[in-house]
Amino acid sequence: MNHHKLGNTDLKIAPIGLGVGGVLGEKFFYEPKALHLIQTALDNGINFLDTGSSYSHGNAELRLGKVLSKNELDKLVIATKGGTVLTPKNKLARNFTKESLLKNVDLSLQKLGIDRIDLFQLHSPSLKDINDDVLDTLHELRIQGKINYIGIACDGPVLDKAIEIALFDTVMLTYNILCQNVENQITEAKKRGKGILIKSPMAHSLYGNDIFKITTVADIWYLLRVLKNYRPEIVEGLKYRFINNIKDWTGAEIALKFVLENPHIDCALIGTTRVNHLLANIRVTTRDLDKLILTKIKTIGNPLALPAK
Ligand SMILES: NC(=O)c1ccc[n+]([C@@H]2O[C@H](COP(=O)([O-])OP(=O)(O)OC[C@H]3O[C@@H](n4cnc5c(N)ncnc54)[C@H](OP(=O)(O)O)[C@@H]3O)[C@@H](O)[C@H]2O)c1
Repeated sequence: MNHHKLGNTDLKIAPIGLGVGGVLGEKFFYEPKALHLIQTALDNGINFLDTGSSYSHGNAELRLGKVLSKNELDKLVIATKGGTVLTPKNKLARNFTKESLLKNVDLSLQKLGIDRIDLFQLHSPSLKDINDDVLDTLHELRIQGKINYIGIACDGPVLDKAIEIALFDTVMLTYNILCQNVENQITEAKKRGKGILIKSPMAHSLYGNDIFKITTVADIWYLLRVLKNYRPEIVEGLKYRFINNIKDWTGAEIALKFVLENPHIDCALIGTTRVNHLLANIRVTTRDLDKLILTKIKTIGNPLALPAK
């Protein structure tokens, strides 16, 4: 995979990165298998790794740290997130106070076993959470040398606000076949020199039946996530069923290709627990897809738009 510059930063990254969170970081997912998958990603050209301090109940950074300790760090870009913390009852809560963010970064550095975080991102803040105190804290962390670049993972109006804030070097937003109406935000962020990172590029596999095929514990986790967070999108996903019937492609590969075709995207973060899926996703970065399929996906996603002449 070719590496390119991430926005206005001096980081060079491949067009897809690996998300180290969710099932992959959970203790119930066999650790040697997780470490092997992360290492396979690195051995096949992925150099951007995205995690979060609260990911996988706080276990994801520890797992990633175990792989990092066996690799040369200079070509890798390690991105993590802070601002969501685990309560004593193991629930997620937002805490963007200075005290919490400083503690957060120190703990992340310790778990990852690194001296400096390449990209530190605010994890799903609310509009109110992006205030002068938070921005000053991020600036201070950068001056201290604990973090290098600063980003934010968010959507909707929070993203609109983030795009206008010069301190953010990158934005991470949801963009996929089921969520196409963010293309103006992507264009605007790009105009302002932000690095554009995409979360959930495969739309939680909602365009096919795989989500209902349970063969592993990971599959149960994915199904529960959809039932808890994405019920309305299940019906929306039905509109894209045709992508599962394209010769030489799987639905997931087409969904990923759709995202990568947007020229403003710097990196799509892949969530996977299977090495064969990981390798297929890497191959997608160099494959060509019939433009008519991409047009059909766009037409379904933007029913009111007139077809291009
Ligand atoms: N707020 C935030 O910070 C936030 C939120 C969401 C996501 N993210 C970032 O984005 C990453 C990805 O997010 P996500 O997990 O929600 O992504 P996703 O786009 O929903 O993709 C994950 C799903 O796609 C499947 N998959 C992946 N490659 C496949 C292939 N080639 N064929 C068939 N199925 C495939 C995975 O199953 P298998 O395991 O079976 O491959 C899994 O079910 C996260 O790890 C994280 O880094 C950040």
